[in-house]
Amino acid sequence: MSNAPHHGLITPHGGGALQARYNSDKARELTKEAASLPRINLTNKQSCDLELIANGGYSPLTGFMGMDDFKSVCKNMTLADGTVWSIPILLSVSKEQIPSIGSRVALYAPGGVLQGVMTVKEEFIHDKKMEIPAVFRTEDEAHPGVAQVAKEGDYCIAGPVEAVTLCVDPQGPEAFLSQRLTPAQTREEFAKRGWKTIVAFQTRNPIHRAHEYVCKCAQEICDGLLIHPLVGETKKGDIAADIRMQAIDALVKKYFNPATTMVTVLPAAMRYAGPREAIHHAIMRRNYGCSHFIVGRDHAGVGNYYGTYDAQKIFDEIDQKNLGIVPLKFEHTGYSKSYGGMVSSKTYPKIEGDIVNLSGTAVRELLFKGERPPAEFSRPEVADVLIAAAKAGTLFVP
Ligand code: ADX
Repeated sequence: MSNAPHHGLITPHGGGALQARYNSDKARELTKEAASLPRINLTNKQSCDLELIANGGYSPLTGFMGMDDFKSVCKNMTLADGTVWSIPILLSVSKEQIPSIGSRVALYAPGGVLQGVMTVKEEFIHDKKMEIPAVFRTEDEAHPGVAQVAKEGDYCIAGPVEAVTLCVDPQGPEAFLSQRLTPAQTREEFAKRGWKTIVAFQTRNPIHRAHEYVCKCAQEICDGLLIHPLVGETKKGDIAADIRMQAIDALVKKYFNPATTMVTVLPAAMRYAGPREAIHHAIMRRNYGCSHFIVGRDHAGVGNYYGTYDAQKIFDEIDQKNLGIVPLKFEHTGYSKSYGGMVSSKTYPKIEGDIVNLSGTAVRELLFKGERPPAEFSRPEVADVLIAAAKAGTLFVP
């Protein structure tokens, strides 16, 4: 647990101290202990969750959720104590893997690296019939988040975790070590810069003109902008995190003011849960020290499962005071030819059919032909990174 001062920044979620569960001094001792403990192999999603438990991004959680929290999250969008929380953080296992209560288990990341040790306080049935419709608003297994939960273990184990490492693959292409700041580290950097109000921008894409525009609008009213791309597990066919980061770095270098802009990564896994995930994204950013959070069109959506603004409306269903971080809601924005700049229907009435809007498929076709999308849609510096990756066969998550 970190008792770092808050420097006038927003408190961590729940109002207490950051609950970081990694202590480098204990890593060696834990590694020794783990050698004789039962082994649990984590999925990518669980491994990402463990990193956020470890670095304090999931404060006030100290480990994987127990049954009371799980049920309350599904039914009320709060932890059992009333703190807003929208996504279950579960360690699901098969029946054969259930350890005895009170024992300790070693948690291994998918590549085989020891990631942490958990004290088992509880075991319970993984009620997917409750979780899936509550979290995803659909039971369709074509939904990537639903499919993932459906294949997870039918039991859950819960308890506090001690992490052995923060980044399981420091040499990997998606380690981004210089940008992998923990919540304590982003808070320290904000304090150093004298920022009090910081707006976070979540993305799982390269930053196109519409993303850039909402960032700039938000930047006008906050001390600083944290561009905070999600680099944990995403689905096959999404743009690979290292390519996205190259594109974002190229864009920021040329078009953003370094005095008011930071780019660091969020090691979280996507759930594609749209509205519920928007709240989850906001909670994590509060822990990183941000006071405001951008929610645009179809935030964290996939396919046609959610309405364009469902991820904004859900903020009216929760206790916003308890959430603490303020959502900044943006309408669908784009470049208007008749206006000659970026607009939304809020700022310019003739947006229908006038804005430059390309589908994901259309953009991909252009990139694979080696052609840049229109500059009104994507900056040339971004397009060039993506074209090079398309040529090299590294554009997508395999
Ligand atoms: S997300 O899964 O991370 O939400 P994406 O990277 O596409 O996907 O979006 C990042 C943020 O930008 C989200 O808040 C999203 O709502 C917003 N956004 C994306 N495109 C637009 C747009 N054309 N107009 C307004 N907001 C947008």
